[in-house]
Amino acid sequence: MIKEPQTLMLVGFMGAGKTTVGQEIARQHQSLFIDVDSEIERIANQSISEIFTTRGETGFRELETQVLSEVQTFNGIVATGGGVVERAENLDILRDSPATVIYLHGNLESTISRLLLEGQRPLLQEKSAVAFFNLWQQRDPKYERIANFTVETVGKTPERIAAEIVALF
Ligand code: S3P
Repeated sequence: MIKEPQTLMLVGFMGAGKTTVGQEIARQHQSLFIDVDSEIERIANQSISEIFTTRGETGFRELETQVLSEVQTFNGIVATGGGVVERAENLDILRDSPATVIYLHGNLESTISRLLLEGQRPLLQEKSAVAFFNLWQQRDPKYERIANFTVETVGKTPERIAAEIVALF
């Protein structure tokens, strides 16, 4: 069951569908939705790509930690960025959080197809396929470790994934 207050944090690799599924849960459950990346863009008044270009990944990660700590008690659905598990500080925030953390678990194949369709991720442009695979291998156990629930997403529509999560409330 979802913990009180009803903050639900979606974690998972870039392209896992965290934003789409988060918005769908909010629609089905009639709750509020916030996206950490959009919040970072709002605070910085820059796009994610511009932040990476002007402040580097370190600058982006600092903003991400700031927003992550602020949304812990947001009463609604929170979609995090895929790199939220990159900093030990973020893992501590998530472990001590009153929020319920859900890992949207896909597979590498479906994730890469989705990312190629969507484009736009600064890290996607920088990394080779091997580096991308390594990143997957390195992050997957971290998402597992911090999550209260893992939901399999392969072959499911966002509506179905959201309905499975809403059933946990
Ligand atoms: C990142 C994922 C992105 C965004 C940034 C870094 C990552 O979010 O936060 O480009 O390190 O995996 P999505 O998971 O929504 O793509």
